[in-house]
Amino acid sequence: MSLAQRRILLGVSGGIAAYKSCELVRRLRDLDADVRVVMTESATHFVSATTFQALSGQSVRVSLWDAQAEAAMGHIELARWAERILIAPASADILARLAHGLADDLLTTLCLASAAPLYVAPAMNQQMWAHASVQTNVETLRQRGVHLLGPASGDQACGDVGNGRMLEAHELRDALAASFGDGSLAGLKVIVSAGPTYEDIDPVRFIGNRSSGRMGFAVAQAAALAGAQVTLVAGPVSLATPAGVTQRIDVRSAAQMHAEVLAAAAQADIYIAAAAVGDFRPNEVSAHKLKKTCDGAGLSLQLSENPDILASLSAQPTHPFLVGFAAETQDVASYAKQKLSRKGLDMIAANQVGEGLGFEAADNALSVYWADGSIDLPRVAKAELARQLITQVAQRYRASRAG
Ligand code: C5P
Repeated sequence: MSLAQRRILLGVSGGIAAYKSCELVRRLRDLDADVRVVMTESATHFVSATTFQALSGQSVRVSLWDAQAEAAMGHIELARWAERILIAPASADILARLAHGLADDLLTTLCLASAAPLYVAPAMNQQMWAHASVQTNVETLRQRGVHLLGPASGDQACGDVGNGRMLEAHELRDALAASFGDGSLAGLKVIVSAGPTYEDIDPVRFIGNRSSGRMGFAVAQAAALAGAQVTLVAGPVSLATPAGVTQRIDVRSAAQMHAEVLAAAAQADIYIAAAAVGDFRPNEVSAHKLKKTCDGAGLSLQLSENPDILASLSAQPTHPFLVGFAAETQDVASYAKQKLSRKGLDMIAANQVGEGLGFEAADNALSVYWADGSIDLPRVAKAELARQLITQVAQRYRASRAG
């Protein structure tokens, strides 16, 4: 893992976890990162600027109105300089200011003025973290493509126990290092499908599923970070296109996803099918909203099966390296292995859905199977899990092409 010469702007906001950010600067410097620290005014009440200056070997900035510092490196220049911005700790206040686009101090101004990917490591009392306003702000930021690192659960400085602890310095450092990718898919074209599909019943109703698309979007991002040229075919989701994705094609139904993936597959080296494709669609889509009869007769829908995208591809004489997903509620391993052979896949990533894992959760765990091997990727945030999955896919892909 390397961060050599990587330009990291570390934003420190006001919270007791600021003491952990001193350690973070050390860990980033261990990997030869070039670190500049910007503190909010509140942060200086927890740790002094002199501490960060000594650790980073660079002057620390707090105010937008520091004429001397502006003359040395203007704030716009600093915003352009950064390859990554990490705010650790990110207090409830700075999350709110970021979510609303405020630029009332140097750090928030830099975040608006920079095109660098933004990472936030929240740290606060568990009750604050659980507050609806904080959660709404976090969701806004997430949808805008801001990367959330943590928080973790456990003992808090205030004596509470719960969710809101900042991740440890080494975890934050590893996440930043991973964000630069390893080039394992360099030069390859990868299609990723993500999200649910909606099968229309009438102009206002559809049959859908609970896929959020987050795992597939994380996979698309991880593939892009690994150097691939990525086409993301997305079902109806409300997620920002991950940085580095070359092309995004939005679809609604399984039939549309089938058509778009097959069209793109002719040029692709790898297809990763992370979408939760609807298995059935209504035989007929009513042109007008179906009316209640109020006679207790109910309504029967005739459904027909959608074509299987992966199976269609594997039936073709030449096709990309195929990676499927299997979301199961029981007997994960045996169902996944059956799917691997039935659909003619090169790899399958299986997960148990339910109990805080799977479709709507922030974390996930996967067991990955291929013809003569398997690996368990334990529960972790979807972005990190996607990175680990891509490492496996790259290895198996290279092995299959070498053999
Ligand atoms: O058979 P099942 O739907 O559980 O298989 C899941 C895997 O198959 C996923 O990778 C999904 O994207 C893919 N799939 C597909 N075409 C379908 C249904 C599922 O490619 N019509």
